[in-house]
Amino acid sequence: LGGQLYQLSKAGKLCVPAMNVNDSVTKQKFDNLYCCRESILDGLKRTTDMMFGGKQVVVCGYGEVGKGCCAALKAMGSIVYVTEIDPICALQACMDGFRLVKLNEVIRQVDIVITCTGNKNVVTREHLDRMKNSCIVCNMGHSNTEIDVASLRTPELTWERVRSQVDHVIWPDGKRIVLLAEGRLLNLSCSTVPTFVLSITATTQALALIELYNAPEGRYKQDVYLLPKKMDEYVASLHLPTFDAHLTELTDEQAKYLGLNKNGPFKPNYYRCLGLPRNQRHLGSDELPALELVFASPTTYAYMNSEK
Ligand SMILES: NC(=O)c1ccc[n+]([C@@H]2O[C@H](COP(=O)([O-])OP(=O)(O)OC[C@H]3O[C@@H](n4cnc5c(N)ncnc54)[C@H](O)[C@@H]3O)[C@@H](O)[C@H]2O)c1
Repeated sequence: LGGQLYQLSKAGKLCVPAMNVNDSVTKQKFDNLYCCRESILDGLKRTTDMMFGGKQVVVCGYGEVGKGCCAALKAMGSIVYVTEIDPICALQACMDGFRLVKLNEVIRQVDIVITCTGNKNVVTREHLDRMKNSCIVCNMGHSNTEIDVASLRTPELTWERVRSQVDHVIWPDGKRIVLLAEGRLLNLSCSTVPTFVLSITATTQALALIELYNAPEGRYKQDVYLLPKKMDEYVASLHLPTFDAHLTELTDEQAKYLGLNKNGPFKPNYYRCLGLPRNQRHLGSDELPALELVFASPTTYAYMNSEK
């Protein structure tokens, strides 16, 4: 959704300053990667009661959500194929041990198709026509745009609702595919989202609101801003006690050696753990404006320190 904010901003249609919390590291890692790593299995189990071992799965998109889905399915013994358009994410998929393919190459043989691209019409009617009997089709990405579900509403196909959120779409020759949640987000429709993940995302959103509220007049224009690294670190630090985790503190000598403040931020703003957020990939392209980095107002920092 961060991308859509930038498009609004570029078109001059953004009426207020906006914080792109979607591309914060904590949001990306927990909501997108770790949450999807768990909830893809939950969503598939609750709807289909299937076993994952030995199943052939194709995951479209190897961003944060795709990485989570692939890791979970691989761990369950599934044979996982990946499709990508971005050579960097594609290379990551290869290095992680997944076969990078075009959807057309595997569409006849796979048992499950999962979309995680944030794009539209990734799975078309042509793909759906070529899938084998009982193939499960679902979406973990944006809204309900990734699978062309509308193309399945034609007179020759029969829809049969077999349980809540599960439809069989039946072809004239008897072939049926199993469509989950009518192409909407599988985990949001068919499983639960852990409160821990919600807590991390909500903390990020709350901090962004506090910063927008505290900021002196005129500090933020009608544009899109990212949270600074220090705020991301703060969100993570609030959640560490859950694990009885003990964070190492820099010695004065080490802080000096690395050129860091002992209290953070510990990484530069442009640093992203493993992933490549959408807007960073597009930096310098015509599509999106360059990143504007936020440095929290003193009042927000005071709030963060008082809470610690
Ligand atoms: N289900 C959930 O709980 C959940 C959680 C967070 C985000 N999301 C949504 O999931 C989507 C993906 O999020 P993300 O953080 O992984 O984004 P991302 O940008 O990191 O990853 C998407 C990947 O898809 C690739 N891609 C784009 N078009 C493609 C195509 N036609 N074929 C193959 N690959 C293609 C991109 O190159 C990119 O690497 C977004 O729409 C996001 O809003 C869902």
